[in-house]
Amino acid sequence: MTASNPYAQELLSTLLKGKVIIVTGGNSGIGKAIVKEVARLGARVVIDYRSHPEATEAIEQEIGELGGTCIGVQADVGNLDDLQRLVQEAVSRYGRLDVMVNNAGIETRTSILDTTPEDFDKVLNVNLRGVFFATQYAAKQMIAQGGGGRVINISSVHEDWPMPNNTPYCVAKGGVRMLTRTAGVELAGKGVTIVNVGPGAVATPINDSTMNNPELLAKLNAAIPMGRMAQPEEIARVVAFLASDAASYITATSIFADGGIMQSSPGL
Ligand code: BGC
Repeated sequence: MTASNPYAQELLSTLLKGKVIIVTGGNSGIGKAIVKEVARLGARVVIDYRSHPEATEAIEQEIGELGGTCIGVQADVGNLDDLQRLVQEAVSRYGRLDVMVNNAGIETRTSILDTTPEDFDKVLNVNLRGVFFATQYAAKQMIAQGGGGRVINISSVHEDWPMPNNTPYCVAKGGVRMLTRTAGVELAGKGVTIVNVGPGAVATPINDSTMNNPELLAKLNAAIPMGRMAQPEEIARVVAFLASDAASYITATSIFADGGIMQSSPGL
């Protein structure tokens, strides 16, 4: 799309204009790319973050300088009081909530044999319990304000595809897969749609240990039909589409952006 094409300009500038969007874990990795992309398309963005306020401030400044609208809110998605306050702050600042992007996530890279109860609780608390109740609080607000809304859960290829030695993460993402399907069916009649985005391997801090190990990185790239990891912006653009009215008929399902990794086969 070029700037000289008035049709394209119109489409871009109306895609997300004025929509109020919360992005959890919005100051790094995929979350940061989503925040910047939806702000660029005219959304009013609430950047949830747990740590590194300076990273949030830098994003706020960048978006402000480009004429966009956003605020940072410190809230831990593993804490339900924080989650409730996050939704309330979005509403008190911008008057409503249109899209909830549950992006924050962690992993321990531990197997069934070496995962401690603490590892398990930590991962499930953020990646599943937090997503469950963020969906509940957001949906209640969307129903109360009228006009419906959308929940987008940043899941993973591992909601359906095993990742040995990352068992609690896979268990949590499998739960998010079924949460989206079940809650999506429950809320469809109330105007709230729910969809998962399942990225493959993305060049973000969660994958630092792989990216810093040339042997491991080569192994990973070889397993991806497209031969490379995704850049966070390639996931953010999918989320921007799903947050827009263009995606109005998508619910209770998952969209994968994985370079083909889930279908990869050595052809044996
Ligand atoms: C995980 C990464 C993994 C990638 C591809 C992501 O969901 O967080 O650790 O490399 O999936 O397998």
